[in-house]
This record gives sequence, structure tokens and C-alpha cells, in this order.
Amino acid sequence: MGETTTILFVTSNQGKIAEAKEALRPYGIDIESYNPIPEIDEIQSSDLVVVAADKLMKAASNSNLSSSILGVMVEDAGFFLDEYEGFPGVYSSYVHKTLGISGVLRSLKGIENRNASFRCVIGIHIDGENFFFEGTCNGIVSDEIRGKNGFGYDPIFIPNEGDGRTFAEMKLEEKEIFSHRAKALKAFVSFLEEWKQSPTSNHGNGS
Ligand code: IMP
Repeated sequence: MGETTTILFVTSNQGKIAEAKEALRPYGIDIESYNPIPEIDEIQSSDLVVVAADKLMKAASNSNLSSSILGVMVEDAGFFLDEYEGFPGVYSSYVHKTLGISGVLRSLKGIENRNASFRCVIGIHIDGENFFFEGTCNGIVSDEIRGKNGFGYDPIFIPNEGDGRTFAEMKLEEKEIFSHRAKALKAFVSFLEEWKQSPTSNHGNGS
């Protein structure tokens, strides 16, 4: 992709920042975290895209962009349990804070259907326009908490494409092979490569 591109990621979640940096580094894209983080109230909606779109609008209007920054990025993600028709989904953060992963395991005790997925929507504001990219990772909920890496529900999620370890038992670069976030970020990279070539872009060879 040539010269380094910098994107401002508006999140206070250090795990998300580390993953985005790892996923985008090979493509010459650097992630800077926004500091201080603008206060962004998250709206309630059953749709991750609606939440991400609202966050992006607030983040973009709050951010003072220097010329070295290509765009502003936000993310909304959730953990979806098939047995509960997707719950906690958009309420994942609240359920994590209240029940915790041990509470989730307790609620699934004796239940056969342990299918789950992580879903992620990345929203990027570039040149006055908003773009959205999605990624999903399917898997199952483990019987017990396993591993110390990652964050959130990682210690109880076993991706179907993996080798039976939970995300929290994997190194960051291993989680990146399967993760919902890495998939959404890859979709963003493909878009960016095309966008930089487009005649309306001021940032690439096409300008
Ligand atoms: P947020 O609203 O996008 O911050 O995400 C909601 C919640 O989903 C987070 O607080 C985490 O508990 C959970 N979550 C999102 N992505 C991941 C992940 O990659 N691993 C584990 N938990 C995650």
C-alpha cells in the first residue's frame, strides 16, 4: 500500500486497539488511539450497525483531525448465543459487567446448544463519508473458563475454525486468524486499497 496511513481509533478498550494494530500493521496502516477519549454515550439498539453508525457520527464530530490522520474509526461488537436467540448481543458489555463469564457458563449448564458467535461492525469516517465493515466468527462456548489472554468473553469462546482452544488460550496473532474484528478490518483494507486508487480520493496514486 506504499506510505503509512494513520487511522484514529476512538475506543477505550486496549484489547481492541492491540488487535486492530496487529491486524492492520501488515498493510502499512497505523492505529492511533484517541486521547483524551471523547465522551460518547452509546445508544440502545438491537442492531450493531445502528449503534456503530451513531458512535461514528459522534466520534467524527468530536475529533479534531490533523492532516496526518486519514480517518476516524469506531467499532461495535457483541457476543451472540444461539440458545438465547442472540442474547446478549448488543447487551454484551452489560452482561459481562453484571453476570460475568462465569454467570454465562452457569446459565448454559445442562444446555446442549452451546453455539455462539462474535460479530463486529467497524465504522470509518473518511473524507466526509461513513463506511461500515462487518465480520463474524462462529464457535461454541467452552465448559469452563480457559486461558488468560484477550478480553471479554475470550476465555469461554472456542472458534469453529480453530484447534479447540479458546481465544484466551491463543496468542494475539492466532486470534487474528479467525476473529470477527480481523475479518471486518480485512474488509476495510480491501476497500481502502480501491478507494486510494479512485479519482475522487486525494490520498492515493489516482489523485
Ligand atoms: P463493545 O460494545 O463493542 O465494546 O463490545 C461489547 C462487549 O462485547 C465487550 O465489552 C466485550 O465484553 C465483548 N467483546 C467484543 N469483542 C470481543 C472479543 O473480541 N473478545 C471477547 N469479548 C468481546
